[in-house]
Amino acid sequence: MKPIFYFFFIACLFTACSSEQVPRHVYTLEEGWKFINQDIENGQKPGINTDTWETVTIPHDWAIKGPFDKEIDKQTVRIEQNQENTATEKTGRTGALPYIGVGWYRKSFEVPEFQKGKKVLLVFDGAMSEPQVFINGEKVGEWKYGYAYFYFDITKYLKPEKENLLAVRLENLGESSRWYPGAGLYRKVQLVVKDNTSFKQWGTFITTPHVSETSAQVNIKSEIDGENIKVVTEIRDEKGKVVASGTTEQLFGSKTEQNLAVPNPQLWDTETPHLYFATMKLYSGNKLKDEQTIRFGIRDVKYERGKGLVLNGKVTKFKGVCLHHDLGPLGAAVNVTALKRQLTILKDMGCNAIRSSHNMPSHEQLELCDEMGFLFLAESFDEWKRPKVKNGYNRFFDEYAEKDIVNLVRATRNHPCIVMWSAGNEVPDQWGNEGIKRGKWLQDIFHREDPTRPVTVGMDQVANTLKNGFGAIWDIPGLNYRLPLYNEAYERFPQGFILGSETASTVSSRGVYKFPVEQFKQKTYPDGQCSSYDLEACSWSNVPDEDFYWQDNFDWVIGEFVWTGFDYLGEPTPYDEYWPSRSSYFGICDLAGLPKDRYYLYRSKWNTRKETLHLLPHWNWEGREGETIPVFAYTSYDSAELFVNDKSMGIQKKNNDSLLNRNRLMWTNVKYEPGSIKIVALDDSGNPAAEKEIRTAGTPHHLLLEADRKNINADGKDLSYVTVSVVDKDGNLCPNADNQLRFNVDGAGKFKATCNGDATSLEMFHLTTMKAFNGQLVVTVESIKEAGTITLEVTGEGLETAKIELESI
Ligand code: GAL
Repeated sequence: MKPIFYFFFIACLFTACSSEQVPRHVYTLEEGWKFINQDIENGQKPGINTDTWETVTIPHDWAIKGPFDKEIDKQTVRIEQNQENTATEKTGRTGALPYIGVGWYRKSFEVPEFQKGKKVLLVFDGAMSEPQVFINGEKVGEWKYGYAYFYFDITKYLKPEKENLLAVRLENLGESSRWYPGAGLYRKVQLVVKDNTSFKQWGTFITTPHVSETSAQVNIKSEIDGENIKVVTEIRDEKGKVVASGTTEQLFGSKTEQNLAVPNPQLWDTETPHLYFATMKLYSGNKLKDEQTIRFGIRDVKYERGKGLVLNGKVTKFKGVCLHHDLGPLGAAVNVTALKRQLTILKDMGCNAIRSSHNMPSHEQLELCDEMGFLFLAESFDEWKRPKVKNGYNRFFDEYAEKDIVNLVRATRNHPCIVMWSAGNEVPDQWGNEGIKRGKWLQDIFHREDPTRPVTVGMDQVANTLKNGFGAIWDIPGLNYRLPLYNEAYERFPQGFILGSETASTVSSRGVYKFPVEQFKQKTYPDGQCSSYDLEACSWSNVPDEDFYWQDNFDWVIGEFVWTGFDYLGEPTPYDEYWPSRSSYFGICDLAGLPKDRYYLYRSKWNTRKETLHLLPHWNWEGREGETIPVFAYTSYDSAELFVNDKSMGIQKKNNDSLLNRNRLMWTNVKYEPGSIKIVALDDSGNPAAEKEIRTAGTPHHLLLEADRKNINADGKDLSYVTVSVVDKDGNLCPNADNQLRFNVDGAGKFKATCNGDATSLEMFHLTTMKAFNGQLVVTVESIKEAGTITLEVTGEGLETAKIELESI
């Protein structure tokens, strides 16, 4: 996409458009909020003094600054999904961060354009949770689900040309989540000011029912408030060129419909995600009443028996990951740069799909997926009516499920990335007839709101859903784990394919290697870590290689969504009962976003464009001289030779002897001697094609700083992620280093957070010191609204001080 044109649309879509011509104004309420983390009697009353309240910007997560505390949301429960028989005490299940309680937010605002004939909407992308909204002391409305999008028409509560006061009360109960949910106004809040005669909020649906090389039919249905109107639509391509236009004056009830032909369309797909823009002007007589620009993509999405997703005529398997919504050390507060960094890392791994487990994604994430070419499985619920956690969504299901789905679909259906909806994850309602009725009801709502996309659920009770019919009702049967039932599910379910809606749940800690090197289930160690040989999983889960077998060999297995792309706060399985441990081990990347070894295993399979050659473990095994240290390579090459201190350990070739041998090159009998291990990958003719060496590192000597982006935007939101590595005098990573490091940011930026990926660490992310974990951590630097140079300085006792300069432009 051309940046200038893109900027034009973003400016019009997401910020105030000051031109007199434009009758619609959108304001994002970001700054100048007041916040207090306690219940205030009559907190909504305009008179209350907020001098002692904290000043915050939105998005905001009130719990991420901790401190971690074992007692927070300690749950003595039996986790049915994990096949547990008795209730035990779980610490850290929701991250051990103070998300429970009441929080109040207040903000004063004016609506300059507010006058007779105008309508003002207040739109929330999500509010954690149970929001109650007040304007000028009067209650406007409430919602329940923290992940839902919702809005209220606040016109009648406003004082024209005067300051208005918005107050939002939020409340999180304990035992309301299975992971860290975050707390507060963690997503955007916007005011939409428009004419009474206008396009309805989320009321326009753009689809492309016919797509060929020479032309695409673009169908635009719009819901409108008003009569005797005319809609003039222009479609532009990424260069701003008008490629189709049309006018309609016909209203069917409150709806208009247009069909425009785009010649020689540039299709949206995962490699070249071309986008188009429909600008729609709404007239009453000759007067312009409303204008909106909606971004969309032209693509042909079909699902075929035995094949699955056929995107623009090409069978496309999901090489996907599940993601929770938190951004590690930033908590749940949405940040576009942080989301983009995740997607950039995943793209390089060859990942082509995201599942927003187990709830509505942020709009920012969907926009990025549109732009970067990711397929998206947009999920809604982790619970229906039957509880998983006492205070979960079950309390709201009857009253809110339909409203929440309607808002999910209407708010996001123009994103080309979304190719499937999910009505739920492992809902206990899989058992029993009531659950089947609920499932059918929910799927019908999705179909009514969007007849173009299929619906799935992630099922864990597969044996049961094969029998009771639950699995047969879905457009796409999603199986969470349960590989031994794949064949039977394909045979007995009527759909003609199955999806690995959730797979793997392999556990590992970056840079940690345990011996003996064997496959284990539910393995725990005294240090609260998991081994990075990628052989450990849970009782219900498996190593990646088992999924590869099904994905590689059966066309009717239409792809997988690995649990998870990144570690997340909470759910520290297999250490649910161990303290301290407060974040997951499932991630392909750790909580800091640093790739674990597993990243390269997926990359070697999924990224077919680039070479992968990765060697593990590290080579610092003081005290283990002469003992066996297995060496693994994850590589896109079929074979390779390993050398220890230049002595050949032989050539290994991928083979079918075992599932592991198909994907990994393994030298299981290597005896440790300090020095180096070197791998030489061989091409198909047996000639050396690439090599990689790991040396035994000496003592920590200095620090290496590497920024993912050296130039950032001076907008007060942009981030640079600086990876800090403790290295020896020759620059080798010290793989056991745990030096306490300190950070100082000067100039046109601020220190934002740091994270080392250690699930057992109780150091807080927002403080300017942290220990390195296995030689590394990541510092996040944030721009301010002033251009200039930013300097990050990192110090550690006995280490040379390191500096990096970033430019904020
Ligand atoms: C699944 C569940 C996920 C997560 C995962 C851990 O059963 O859907 O939310 O709990 O297990 O393996």
